[in-house]
Amino acid sequence: MAELGRIASLPTRGLLEERVRFSLVEEPEMSGVRFADYGLIAGARFFLLGAVSASERCRESYAFLLEHLVLKAADLGLESCWVGYFHQEFFKDFRLEDGERRPAVAVVGKAAERPRFRDRVIRSAVRAAARKPWKELFFAGSFSRPLQPQEAGDFSPALEMVRLAPSSGNTQPWRVVRESDSTAFHFFMKRVRRAYAVRGQHEVDIGIAMCHFDLACREAGRKGCWVLSQPDIALPSPDFEYRWTWRAAKGHL
Ligand SMILES: Cc1cc2nc3c(=O)[nH]c(=O)nc-3n(C[C@H](O)[C@H](O)[C@H](O)COP(=O)(O)O)c2cc1C
Repeated sequence: MAELGRIASLPTRGLLEERVRFSLVEEPEMSGVRFADYGLIAGARFFLLGAVSASERCRESYAFLLEHLVLKAADLGLESCWVGYFHQEFFKDFRLEDGERRPAVAVVGKAAERPRFRDRVIRSAVRAAARKPWKELFFAGSFSRPLQPQEAGDFSPALEMVRLAPSSGNTQPWRVVRESDSTAFHFFMKRVRRAYAVRGQHEVDIGIAMCHFDLACREAGRKGCWVLSQPDIALPSPDFEYRWTWRAAKGHL
């Protein structure tokens, strides 16, 4: 935990250069303010959480950075769960300042050896282990042509890491369109469930997916950067919204 706490406190910036601060805090649930009223979490003690200065894309920025810490926790042998429905007042030692947002937190620790019956029922209700197939998520050139894993070539593992990412209520709101010349991947958000959309949780999910894509590209030696560059691609419905583009660096195609 000490190593994770050290890494969490390192200074960092958001995708749009937002100010961001993270910390690993120990906050056992006592009588008084509860951490959350909903979901699977019980007996949580350690939390990765932060604050980001408000911007149009701050939820993605925050989630992109926090997922790096969550994956670092996994590297260190810890387990974790993202939580979007919680009481902000619970974190009395890490309060938000004016103009700051905290779209979600992550609980870190060791999972119970045997999940409670209630947990198994909830996980089965949100089909927590299921993931959508490629043909519903990834496209080539336009939303009318699904992208096959073989066609994605070197980028296939990165897209697979997007597919496997966790999301609020397992809604998997990410849709990715690869540009015809394959130099750019455009990330769209589909508003899958209103309750998550109005709380900005789908944007958090997109940030997590972007983190997975980014890390997998780096591992494959693919250099690129995140830009806002809305493509001229017809959206299948008003529920779709453009969010971000990963563009390959010159000489790294
Ligand atoms: C942004 C985000 C918010 C989440 N919020 C909650 C929550 O409030 N309560 C909860 O029990 N689980 C929460 N989860 C966990 C998801 O339900 C879980 O990741 C999803 O069902 C997929 O299951 P898996 O992570 O075990 O693959 C959240 C996950 C994400 C990514």
